[in-house]
Amino acid sequence: MSNKTIVITGSSGGLGLQAAKRIADLDNTVIIASRNEKKGRQVEKEIGKNSYFMQLDVSSIESMDNFVKNFNKKFSKLDILVNNAGIMLHPSKKTKDGTEITFATNYLGYFYLSLKLIPNLICTTNPKIINVSSISSYHVEKINWDYFDPIKKISSLREKREIYEHTNLFRLMFSIELQKRLNEKGIPIKSIACHPGVAKSQLGRYFFLAKLIYALPVMASTEEGIKSIIFSCINPNLNGGEFVGLNKKKQHRGDPIIVKPNPIVEIEEQRNKLWQMTSEKCGINL
Ligand SMILES: NC(=O)c1ccc[n+]([C@@H]2O[C@H](COP(=O)([O-])OP(=O)(O)OC[C@H]3O[C@@H](n4cnc5c(N)ncnc54)[C@H](OP(=O)(O)O)[C@@H]3O)[C@@H](O)[C@H]2O)c1
Repeated sequence: MSNKTIVITGSSGGLGLQAAKRIADLDNTVIIASRNEKKGRQVEKEIGKNSYFMQLDVSSIESMDNFVKNFNKKFSKLDILVNNAGIMLHPSKKTKDGTEITFATNYLGYFYLSLKLIPNLICTTNPKIINVSSISSYHVEKINWDYFDPIKKISSLREKREIYEHTNLFRLMFSIELQKRLNEKGIPIKSIACHPGVAKSQLGRYFFLAKLIYALPVMASTEEGIKSIIFSCINPNLNGGEFVGLNKKKQHRGDPIIVKPNPIVEIEEQRNKLWQMTSEKCGINL
């Protein structure tokens, strides 16, 4: 894979940053789509040639709209969008759009940005949307729709864990439903979900125990953690709608393989419901 233009959301740190470095090394143009200008510019400098910082806060509709406008001014094509920005166990907070922060960042941002960038993607050969998700999606036994844009405060640890799990399930349901809808419209974009393994990063930063766990030496390195993201980007034989997981230790580590998602993801009626609710919530549809 070379000469591609690739947007990676949340690439100012963790897995996104590591993936951006790898993709730039392979002679592609990588857009560091980061909410924090200082960090983003630092990463742009660190990676050097082939990398461009562009401000993006995926928890804000206005910021995503501005990002797309700015992207269109600077770039003539987009080959791959990697939806990666995410948070876990975040303290209770509403975004300036009035949306619960974990729901907005982890899920709504994937949905809205993907749909906004489809016109850019259809201009290229073999375009892809890669949706980073997590094995935490398997923990959901039945969807609790209260976690769809919750109106009440997400304050207990259990609720924070459950909304993280639900948003990862929603990411997967979105990835597969998007592929179905792209196929129906004859749009040749592949939508692929992946799980990066359990890797060292800043993901646990909002809760002290999680912060310790995500820094443990037994955790996979970020280099190992990006295998499934890179595999999803470069493998030309993947089918849209597939979920790339890992082959060892309950998917905590290993090499990328196609895995089965949580069976809830296969229920079309549930995916349809999620799509309708999301589309109404953010005023965009395919
Ligand atoms: N690490 C793992 O073991 C693991 C396992 C399964 C899935 N994942 C998923 O992998 C993705 C990356 O996580 P990570 O482990 O690399 O965590 P991380 O080190 O905390 O990195 C998260 C990235 O997302 C960015 N971000 C957060 N909110 C954002 C927003 N509103 N707009 C734009 N960027 C935002 C962060 O930016 P700032 O630098 O500004 O904070 C950071 O660059 C997440 O979606 C996570 O759910 C991770």
